[in-house]
Amino acid sequence: MSSTGGPRRLLVRDLAQLATPAGTAAPLRGRALGVVDVVEDAYLLCAGDSIEAVGRMRDLPHLDGDIDELDGRGLCAIPGLVDCHTHACFAGDRVEEFTLRAAGASYEELHATGGGIMSTVRATRAAGEQALVDAVRQHRAWMLRAGTTTFESKSGYGLDRETELASLRAVKAAGGVPTWLGAHAVPPEFDDPDAYLDFALAEVLPAAAEIAEAADVFLERGAFDATQARRYLTACTEASLALRLHGDQFTEQGAVRLAIELGARSVDHLEATGDEGVAALGKSNVAAVLLPASALFLARPMPPGRALVEAGAIVALATDFNPGSAFCESLPLVCSLAATQLRLSPAEALASCTVNAAHVLGRSDSLGRLAPGYVADVVLLEAPDWRYLAYHLGANLVAAVILRGQRAE
Ligand code: NIG
Ligand code: FE
Repeated sequence: MSSTGGPRRLLVRDLAQLATPAGTAAPLRGRALGVVDVVEDAYLLCAGDSIEAVGRMRDLPHLDGDIDELDGRGLCAIPGLVDCHTHACFAGDRVEEFTLRAAGASYEELHATGGGIMSTVRATRAAGEQALVDAVRQHRAWMLRAGTTTFESKSGYGLDRETELASLRAVKAAGGVPTWLGAHAVPPEFDDPDAYLDFALAEVLPAAAEIAEAADVFLERGAFDATQARRYLTACTEASLALRLHGDQFTEQGAVRLAIELGARSVDHLEATGDEGVAALGKSNVAAVLLPASALFLARPMPPGRALVEAGAIVALATDFNPGSAFCESLPLVCSLAATQLRLSPAEALASCTVNAAHVLGRSDSLGRLAPGYVADVVLLEAPDWRYLAYHLGANLVAAVILRGQRAE
């Protein structure tokens, strides 16, 4: 509360531009995905943790009472970025594997020989809950520096009861949106995927459903097949979790069909999705979450971003931040990849990691726009034009972040 009794207010004045996905609808698809409202010479007023007003400086009303001010000269305001797909709860790293991959080993080969995901599972199981909380907090700090104000994170590097639940609690403790990735890989103590699922669904799901908002499965050759994924997801939906899938990362195994059949929130990756899958997603309400940093990091083909937008799909962008396939927390870099590799416009990229990513997390009523009533999560870019978000490749343009109406340090 301010000394005059109302909520604390923060005025960002003299912004070069303020840019926000237009309208109030969510999710955005088709032409609407590419419409961004830009206000030149703008102000933004926060009251408490919400946005009270935005507009042109010349229309700024007289404001009474105590108001904190931030000088926006040379800066552009965009909505706080929403990362709707990360694996931020892990211990250790995979820098040795990264070096082996640079020398020619493939990600799938490393996975098949007990490296890859399983090497992170070993480190994560050994870490202990406090170390996991510290790790997620550190990863969250990296994300915030890159402009991410809301993040989802999956579990999936525990694959035993204790570590899966500790991972979900750690994500929540760090302010993230937890997703139970109970079907990420089959841990070595089980002979086959079904035996592992017997355990996970009976012993972990009831407690995981108390913490997580969604469930996720890695539907892929060498992980879980479509029948096993259906079994896992059906049990999770019965426990009131929203559904997500890792699908079509390396091969098409029916993930798109299954996601649509089960009414999943999203199917993520889609590097291997063909024309039929693109057309089906275009007609469905399942979001297509594209992870171009992962395709880049693994030197894989990019997902068919332009075709999905043209087909009318709900497209979202995310980092896939994890130690193996995408050691990258930067959504601005993902926006650059979207513009240069997926042929999305900067406006489509912005909507995909704000409004549509918020939709994937069930939060599009309150997150993803700079408009009165939305949560005051704001990124201030050091740039004369907001499109530098995608244009300035690899730069960290984030001059400041406002989180829930207050400047984040
Ligand atoms: O989304 N593909 C499956 N899971 C993660 C990678 C996890 C890892 O390599 O540690 C992904 O790319
Ligand atoms: Fe992932």
